[in-house]
Amino acid sequence: MHEPFLFQAPARLVDFMRQADQPGLINLAAGVPGLDALPFAALREAAEQAFAAEGASLFAYHHPEGDHALRALLARRLTARGVADAAPGGIVTTTGCTQALAAMLSVLVRPGEIVACEAPAYYGLLELIAEAGARVLPLPVGAAGLNLDATELALQRWKPKCLVVCTSLSNPSGATLTEAQRERLVKICRATGVRLIEDDIYAELLDSGAPKPCRAFDDGSTVSFVTSFSKTVAPGLRVGYCLPGSPELHDAFAARKCQLDLHSSVVSEVLLRTFLERNSFDPHLAWLRERNLWRRTLALEAIGRSFPPGTEVNAPWGGYMLWVQLPDWVYLPEVASAARAAGVVFAGGTAFFALPPGEDRKTPCIRLNCARAAEPDLERGVEILGKIVSGLA
Ligand SMILES: Cc1ncc(COP(=O)(O)O)c(C=O)c1O
Repeated sequence: MHEPFLFQAPARLVDFMRQADQPGLINLAAGVPGLDALPFAALREAAEQAFAAEGASLFAYHHPEGDHALRALLARRLTARGVADAAPGGIVTTTGCTQALAAMLSVLVRPGEIVACEAPAYYGLLELIAEAGARVLPLPVGAAGLNLDATELALQRWKPKCLVVCTSLSNPSGATLTEAQRERLVKICRATGVRLIEDDIYAELLDSGAPKPCRAFDDGSTVSFVTSFSKTVAPGLRVGYCLPGSPELHDAFAARKCQLDLHSSVVSEVLLRTFLERNSFDPHLAWLRERNLWRRTLALEAIGRSFPPGTEVNAPWGGYMLWVQLPDWVYLPEVASAARAAGVVFAGGTAFFALPPGEDRKTPCIRLNCARAAEPDLERGVEILGKIVSGLA
C-alpha cells in the first residue's frame, strides 16, 4: 500500500458529463439509467399535485437546511433502516450527493491533510479530494469489499481526517459491506478517531432492499451519512441529503451548504416529497431492482460469450454496474479508441484509481453500465467490446 500522496484527479467529471449526452453512441459509460427507467408518470402527477397544493411558495426562498416535511419523511425511512436517532433536525438537504460530499470534505479537510478512500473509488470523489489539496490514502477493495484488516492498520498508522466509503454497491467495484463489516468499520473509525463519510447512494438498489447503514451503528459522533435520489428516482432532480453528525459539525455543514447555494431547489424537494407521500417510491424501487437484475443478466451472458478467457466480472448484489477485469495483456487505450470508432463507450478503470505522480496502473479494468442502452444495444455493445478485446490477443 502507498503512503498518502498528493495527486491529480485521473478524470474530470465535466468530461464524463459532456460525453453522457452525445447521440448515436451505445453508452455503457455514464453511471445513470436510461430515460425509460425514470418514473416519469408518477413524477408528473406529483408535480401537478405539488403545484396545486403549494402555489407560489414553490418559487420563494426556503429553509437553508431543506424542506421540513421532506426531511421528516427521510428521517422516517432512516429510522426504518435502524438509525434510531434519525430526526429532521439532523438532516440537511443538498443539491445531489455531489454537494453533500463536497461540503463535507470542505468542512473537514485542509490542504495537505489526509483523506482515505476506496481503491477503486468514484472518480467524482477523487476529483474532490484532489481539488481539496488533500493527500489521498487509497485502501484496497476486494471481492468482499473494503479490506478491513488493511484499513485498520492504515488508519492506525496515518490517522486520516476522514475515510469515504460507498458502503452498498460501491462505484465501481460493486462491493457491498455486510452488516458485520459495517459494525466493524464503525468500531475501527471510532477507535482511531477517523470520521467515516458513508456514501449510501446505491443502497436502495440492492436486490434485497436497503440494509442498515453504518450510521445505524453510531450516533453521529463518528459517521457522517450522505446520499441522494439520483440513482433511485431521477438524477435531474438533484435532491440529496446529509446527516453531518455532531451539532457542531451539523452547524458547520449547514453554513457551508448555505454559502454554496443558499438552499437546494424548492421545486425539486417538494416534488420529491409529494412523490414519497403518494407512496410512489417503493413500487418504483421494486420495478427498478427487477429491471437491473434482468439487464445485469443480459450483460453477464454477453460478456460470457464474447470476452476472452481470463476476464473476471464481479457479481454485485444489485444495481446496474459491472466491474470487469480484463486479462493483463490488454492495452486499455487501444480498446477505448477501437470501441469509440465502433460507436461504443465505457468507463475505463484508470479513472477510478488515485495514483502518485508518474505511476501507471497496469491491470486493465472497465466499468459497464447495463441500465442505459436499449436492451438490444446493451447486448450488441458488450459483444462489440468483447470482440475488440479478444482481437487484441
Ligand atoms: C458513489 C457516488 N457518489 C456520488 C455520486 C453523485 O451523485 P449525485 O448525482 O446525487 O450528485 C455518484 C454518481 O455517480 C456516485 O456514483
